[in-house]
Amino acid sequence: MNNTVSPALDVNTIRDAFPILQRQVNGHPLVYLDNAATAQKPLSVIDAISDYYKGYNANIHRGIHRMAEEATTAFEATRKTIARFIGAASSDEIIFTRGTTEGINLVAYTWGKQNINKGDEIIISEMEHHSNIVPWQVLCQEKNAVLKIIPVDDNGELSFEIFKKLLTPHTKLVSIVQVSNSLGTVNPVREIIEEAHKAGARVLIDGAQSSVHLDINVQDLDCDFFAFSGHKIYGPTGVGVLYGKKDLLEAMPVFQGGGEMINEVTFKQTTYNELPYKYEAGTPNIADTIALKTAIDFVESIGKDLIREHEVELVKYATRQLEDISGLRIIGKANNKVSLVSFVIDNIHPSDIGTLLDNMGIAVRTGHHCTQPLMKRFDIPGTVRASFAMYNTFEEVDALVAGVHKAVKILL
Ligand code: ALA
Repeated sequence: MNNTVSPALDVNTIRDAFPILQRQVNGHPLVYLDNAATAQKPLSVIDAISDYYKGYNANIHRGIHRMAEEATTAFEATRKTIARFIGAASSDEIIFTRGTTEGINLVAYTWGKQNINKGDEIIISEMEHHSNIVPWQVLCQEKNAVLKIIPVDDNGELSFEIFKKLLTPHTKLVSIVQVSNSLGTVNPVREIIEEAHKAGARVLIDGAQSSVHLDINVQDLDCDFFAFSGHKIYGPTGVGVLYGKKDLLEAMPVFQGGGEMINEVTFKQTTYNELPYKYEAGTPNIADTIALKTAIDFVESIGKDLIREHEVELVKYATRQLEDISGLRIIGKANNKVSLVSFVIDNIHPSDIGTLLDNMGIAVRTGHHCTQPLMKRFDIPGTVRASFAMYNTFEEVDALVAGVHKAVKILL
């Protein structure tokens, strides 16, 4: 290792909070570099889940008994924490979902159905995850609307000039990822939102990768919708958040029908509950939602700024060393980039590298990362992606680099 360090972040103490980091994989200490797929969980998050089941498992909003009250209070505490965490004006604007994918689909199936008509246009980008492509494709096919795509340049950045040209009076929605899961590119969403609003369009921001690395303030950004997942922010899987501006959420039709989302049901007519419950039919994922607050408390106790600084140093350190490997090409060289390094090596399939790294206990993701159109744009089958979190060390980057060198020797 060189003398690149992140002195302000006590990575060893942080690592102690994550039990899984002690395990061995294939006879080697685990080097977990697949954080963009899902981050590991600190013990406090794991405990929060088991505390609920051991201590106050009850359904929420429905019971008047003591445990129901305790569960409801803990569940709603997460909503308040999320509202503050992303700078929402009110916790009524925080809808719990299963994750980013469900959040985007909720908007497509409610706001989209109501507001997109024949000839309307929706703009997305070439670097979107399938979850921010397919719901809009389905909607456009159904409504005879037009899906327009902002191209990505060779560095993995969006062309802002082309985006401005794509905007027309027919543009109803711009749906854009804030941080690319395949490239690490941080998109200029503030500027995108401003331009889109000038054209009279609404904007949805896919925050699946950004919410863990960047400070988010939805009011400051002025986005109309913002979706993210709990599990990428050190929380549990199966819980996510959709933020929407109150007036939009109030005007949208309901998503799923069922318990909790109603005010009164008769066979003649049903009236709906107020926000946010209008969009939360059925018993939600109570334990994991409660534990999501614990995850956010954990991140905030360390500080997003310090975490980001550390991760940026890891990315730089990894990039410098990987670039020295003959035949290796980094995919995604944006000026503003966080959290990950994606690469390909001439004449080697990414999954072969991934398999050999796994033999050495190093977990990376290989493949198209659910961004097939982006892979097509770069004319590659996929990449090897190393993605970083607060607990990763420079020694782990060294292990990755040594592992890639070894893999290349074996495979070429
Ligand atoms: N979207 C997640 C990833 O990039 C699963 O790995």
